[in-house]
Amino acid sequence: MSTVHHPVPASADPIADFLPLKGTDHVEFYVGNARQAAYFYRAAFGMSLVAYSGPETGQRDRASYVVQQGKIRFVLTTPLRSGNPIAEHIDRHGDAVRAIALWVDDARAAWQATVSRGAVSVMDPEVFSDEHGHAVLASIRTYGDTIHTFVERGSYNGPFLPGFRGTPHDTIARPTGLLHIDHMVGNVGWHEMDEWVKFYSNVMGFSLYQHFDDKDISTEYSALMSKVMSNGNGYVKFPINEPAEGKRKSQIEEYLDFYAGPGVQHIALATKDILHTVNRLHEQGIEFLRVPHTYYTELQRRIGPIDEPIEELEKLGILVDRDDEGYMLQIFTRPVEDRPTLFFEIIQRKGSRSFGKGNFKALFEAIEREQQARGNM
Ligand code: FE2
Repeated sequence: MSTVHHPVPASADPIADFLPLKGTDHVEFYVGNARQAAYFYRAAFGMSLVAYSGPETGQRDRASYVVQQGKIRFVLTTPLRSGNPIAEHIDRHGDAVRAIALWVDDARAAWQATVSRGAVSVMDPEVFSDEHGHAVLASIRTYGDTIHTFVERGSYNGPFLPGFRGTPHDTIARPTGLLHIDHMVGNVGWHEMDEWVKFYSNVMGFSLYQHFDDKDISTEYSALMSKVMSNGNGYVKFPINEPAEGKRKSQIEEYLDFYAGPGVQHIALATKDILHTVNRLHEQGIEFLRVPHTYYTELQRRIGPIDEPIEELEKLGILVDRDDEGYMLQIFTRPVEDRPTLFFEIIQRKGSRSFGKGNFKALFEAIEREQQARGNM
């Protein structure tokens, strides 16, 4: 077993941190039909529509809906015509995460710091303004067709960003208690994990938080390797997965096949009350991976005493893991589109800062039952 754990990452010193991040600003998805996708995130995940941009606001080539719950903000963008980079992204990847936007005080400095260390610029720093003020945005490439956008919004007071208009109180939103993004996981190709670990360390100033090798994360059939990268203050964590050899096709390989390359595998959303949140999500139509009854018969012995009744956890399929700092509860949705690509994790931390290593076997066996049902083993 090889776990590296830095309670205080080496670059926590703000002077040494060349890329200070205030957190995740938003996640932008490119989708085939943003109006309908927005309805899904509102009615099922409980997010509220807060802003819109499209032809009515002077945006000629696309429409974007901004939905929010707690500090979680998703932008759902669709192209209005074919034959453009957004439409090509959707053709290649399906509905997918395009941009992981990071909140900074100084977007020009963030862009400069990363580009000077080897990042590829997608958009040089640009000032956008409207009657609510101005914001500065700049983007760089990360794995696959995914980008990081630095968002400086210190001088902006509008509903989202310049060009977006606010929307009336959302009567469709059914809140589920989701609070913030805990981590976002990227799947990269065979033997590419260390290259991206180096990118996050050398170019973005992140450091290694934890890693798992294929002895930790394997089932009889498929395997993966994973390293968790964290920024200096620990607000932003990006685990990176690569496939590993197994008897059958790795679940990461299935993702890479259907996504047509590297991309975001899952987004973990934090709650303070996972029983409430998962009950609501389930009632509102979100489908979760199921774990076998045997997982729960073993649980008490493996985890020790916890606050939540085990029968409640089993009813919903919630997993539990413990480390020396406490425990955490987590559950994974089925993919949220027809391609077996992006899914969500719901997580509640009670002291533990781990990522559920003890659950990997039970979880991956559940994923593989589904993979087998899709005929992709
Ligand atoms: Fe996760």
